[in-house]
Amino acid sequence: MCGIVGYIGEKNATPIILEGLRKLEYRGYDSAGIAVIEDGKIEIRRDVGKLINLEVLVKERPLSGKIGIGHTRWATHGAPSARNAHPLIGEKGKVVIVHNGIVENYLELKEELESEGAHFNSDTDTETIVYLIERNFVKGVTLEEAVRLSLQRIRGAHGIVVISNQEPDKIIAARIGNAGGVVIGHGDGEMFVASDIPAILEYTRKMSFLESHQMAVVTRNHVEIKTLNGEHVDVKIDNIAWDPVAAVKGKYRHFMQKEIHEQARSLTDTLTGRVDFDNNRIELINLNMDEKKAKAIQKIIITACGTAYNAGMVGKTMIETIAKIPVEVDVASEFRYRDPLVDESTCVIVISQSGETADTLAAMEEAHKKGAIVLSIVNAIGSQAIRAADGYISMQVGPEIGVASTKAFTAPLVDLYMLAIYLADLRGTLTEEERSHYIYDLRVIPDIAGKCLKREDAVEEVAKILKDVHNILYLGRGINMPIAYEGALKLKEISYIHAEAYPAGEMKHGPIALIDKDMPVLAIIPKDQWYDKMLSQVEQVKARGGTLILVATDGDARAKELGDYVLWIPESPWLLTPVFTTIPLQMLAYHIAAIRGLDVDQPRNLAKSVTVE
Ligand code: AGP
Repeated sequence: MCGIVGYIGEKNATPIILEGLRKLEYRGYDSAGIAVIEDGKIEIRRDVGKLINLEVLVKERPLSGKIGIGHTRWATHGAPSARNAHPLIGEKGKVVIVHNGIVENYLELKEELESEGAHFNSDTDTETIVYLIERNFVKGVTLEEAVRLSLQRIRGAHGIVVISNQEPDKIIAARIGNAGGVVIGHGDGEMFVASDIPAILEYTRKMSFLESHQMAVVTRNHVEIKTLNGEHVDVKIDNIAWDPVAAVKGKYRHFMQKEIHEQARSLTDTLTGRVDFDNNRIELINLNMDEKKAKAIQKIIITACGTAYNAGMVGKTMIETIAKIPVEVDVASEFRYRDPLVDESTCVIVISQSGETADTLAAMEEAHKKGAIVLSIVNAIGSQAIRAADGYISMQVGPEIGVASTKAFTAPLVDLYMLAIYLADLRGTLTEEERSHYIYDLRVIPDIAGKCLKREDAVEEVAKILKDVHNILYLGRGINMPIAYEGALKLKEISYIHAEAYPAGEMKHGPIALIDKDMPVLAIIPKDQWYDKMLSQVEQVKARGGTLILVATDGDARAKELGDYVLWIPESPWLLTPVFTTIPLQMLAYHIAAIRGLDVDQPRNLAKSVTVE
């Protein structure tokens, strides 16, 4: 959960940047660093661990300059260490960078650069970007042009900020996709750059936000924004309210909308520190799991409530497919009272955003009593569901404020996928080839999620049409069956429209009687192994005159013909499709509720954390 802060102006950049990084501490990190231009030279201080270590270093070897950039890093490529911390500098010491995101093609770029004589000083993917930029820069183009040319070479979603001692009067910031937000703060004779508003809110409330594929050239008195193709973009300045809660909401109408849009980034964050793309390994340190314990597991029970339970249902297919361990999924309020068949050979996994849900905590207690290994997947660090577990995975998505859970639904899907690989590995049931293939697929997540998010306008149009319906039936099958449940849950929670979900194959056993022109049906039909079966279900609905809303894969001609409305998602690896099919359903529920003028973030009768039975 990396954070970025940059400053250019008349003041000493160091304390401003350090203070900004402190404001981003809540996002979590494992190292931190700062670079300033001092007397025409780039000076860098970096250290592993908490910000205090960097502050001590800066005290010992002070830094002062009127332009600088800082970073808090969550390791993705390369261990948490001072050497891998950002900022990272070019080979000739002329360009320095901070970066959020994953360079998907970094091995390819690294090999290319090494074949041209480059020597890397870190294990990070980010160093390839700064090397590319500097190599272009020393050929004689401007810093801006060098950044632009280099960004055309890298794949994935990114937020980057660059400075150079050769052009010390500017900061270049760029954003591709949604893995790293970039906000520019306009001051009086000074400017700020950050990944998140709170970092710079103390200094200004006039902010501009970079969209994907835009870059900014920021000087003391001026901000110029262009697309990565060099086209001019009008600089829009938003006035951010001082109220810290409203401020954090930024340009979004509701927290839920903001949190939906954070997903490309939160999904990157949940990968960080866990996936070693170089060696094709998953590392889940806090799980406290070893080969012996993993091999002793005979059965897994996933138990949780609400949205977290729906995530668990997706996890069943992931774990059974990848790790080949039988999985049961149980609602926590049922599990705790039904005297479940659990013993020492059972691993009980609970999922919880808040980590304080009473039923979930009681289920953990019950599982412990019966001798099971109890693991948790939790967002709120320090919560009871972490403290009471034998091991845990933290979701790493940052605070979720909207009562309707969004980013805390998609993150555990990825966590469960990583857990499945990790367990399979410990049990020795994965071939090298299978592991590489599953891990490789993780790279595309932020990018595909970002593409889904970009389609919000199309989803909003469908929401306008559906805003007055009284019922919707959601259908899904296989790994997307739980997404039908999650889509229906989101809709009823915030729009108060009755929505019901069914495994599509069950339709003929009852719910088909409901279908008429007044019962819209939303069917999730990505191109996976259930596609043909879903199509025949969809045809049956069509034959009975129901309005059809489909979630389908780009280019699916049959979906286009059959659906009255289609919410398109990009093609994706089948085990990960639920991450992407969910996003349009979250946006649909959000827009229907927003159009109906409802209190989206605090729907009636619901609480964010259900700490009572
Ligand atoms: C999700 O949109 C709901 N607000 C609700 O179902 C929630 O997922 C459930 O109460 C479980 O909460 P937890 O994840 O904090 O345990």
